[in-house]
Amino acid sequence: MPNLSPHIQLEGLNADSREFGLIIEMMGRLKACLLDGTTPGAEFTGWLRLPAEMEPTLDRIAGMGRRIAAESATLVVVGIGGSYLGARAAYEALGRGLDGVELQWAGWSLSPVMARRLVEALDGRDYMINVISKSGGTMEPALAFRILAQHAQTRYGDAWTERVVVTTDPAQGALRLWAQDRGVETMDIPSTVGGRFSVLSPVGLLPLAAAGIDVRALVSGAGDVQRGAESASAEDDPAVIYAAARCVMEQRGRCVEVLTLPGPELSLFGEWWRQLAGESEGKNGAGIWPSVLTLTTDLHSIGQYLQDGRRMIQETFLAFEEYDAEPVIPRSGPVADGLDLVGGRALGLVNRLALEGTRDAHRAGDVPGTSITAHRLDPFCLGQLFYVFELAVALTALFHGVNPFDQPGVEAYKKGVRAKLNSL
Ligand code: PA5
Repeated sequence: MPNLSPHIQLEGLNADSREFGLIIEMMGRLKACLLDGTTPGAEFTGWLRLPAEMEPTLDRIAGMGRRIAAESATLVVVGIGGSYLGARAAYEALGRGLDGVELQWAGWSLSPVMARRLVEALDGRDYMINVISKSGGTMEPALAFRILAQHAQTRYGDAWTERVVVTTDPAQGALRLWAQDRGVETMDIPSTVGGRFSVLSPVGLLPLAAAGIDVRALVSGAGDVQRGAESASAEDDPAVIYAAARCVMEQRGRCVEVLTLPGPELSLFGEWWRQLAGESEGKNGAGIWPSVLTLTTDLHSIGQYLQDGRRMIQETFLAFEEYDAEPVIPRSGPVADGLDLVGGRALGLVNRLALEGTRDAHRAGDVPGTSITAHRLDPFCLGQLFYVFELAVALTALFHGVNPFDQPGVEAYKKGVRAKLNSL
């Protein structure tokens, strides 16, 4: 059986240096405290155990996903931040499965253009709605739900609430109260799991199950990393090595991290990671600024800056050992483009070589970093990646001495907007 765990390679960094060894040691201690529940924010570390804890509910989630797919063509997922990015990342990366519904996204902005387009797209389609909000009171999803509820009421009459599933806190919040009152189907977000760490809870799993994606494999991949993290020593744990490398580079002035992705199907994964890192680490004047680059698209736009701009960037490449074997590049083409040498080869191979060539150029141009290589882009490996990044981000935040699991800055913005609305 090949080793399917993601592996980490350090580039432009000496893994044997005393500096790196000390940080690995410290990360190992922080991991032990995280697992023991003795770090700041310990009451929100339920995500660590989600893979094992979701196991008994997977049948219910898969069953509900099948019911949604049988009764509708589209599932509108209403949520913002941690309440939609994980599901959307996996949906874009893996694509809709056979017999799955199409997913549409609402409540992740206040754009009237997007809201109008969505409602127009739903005209004439059978759809269901999954409203996701841990607090049950976030403005963007709440407003989107009002608009969708009006549309659904007109379309389905009083039975519209049978087409809604609410995913929220098990005990509190306006959505929970409404669902209880109206007998609307609900899924619980464990109270110990915060938004950006919730992709492996019903927040991510229900929409993905409805889309026909193998959520069992996703959870099992995450479980594989969870068990590894519980037993591996610090120097063998990919999340610890990655977190340590990020912090060493930051200490050398590389306070911006670019996550370089092998293709646009992973752009939303990049956005998920950006939120995870930014919201968990950016506190008390600390934290690495997370940013994303998509190959090879962005080499024709912002790649120049990485190669030649200010030396404040560290770069993490995400790669897959096996990328899609199709399509194969035709042996000849209509134009003398000088590319016959790749005729008959998979486009995925060219992608891989482009990634390696870019990495060589960036490393030679003094952009240090790491490469995280997963086996292939499937639910199991994506589950592994979700867990590795969650653990690494939590460790980095703890290393900086901040609570990874709160978001005082987000609360401040919410208050500011509420004050403006109150002046209406
Ligand atoms: O990670 C977080 O906690 C946030 O991004 C939340 O997910 C986001 O603000 C949405 O909150 P809620 O799920 O309460 O609507």
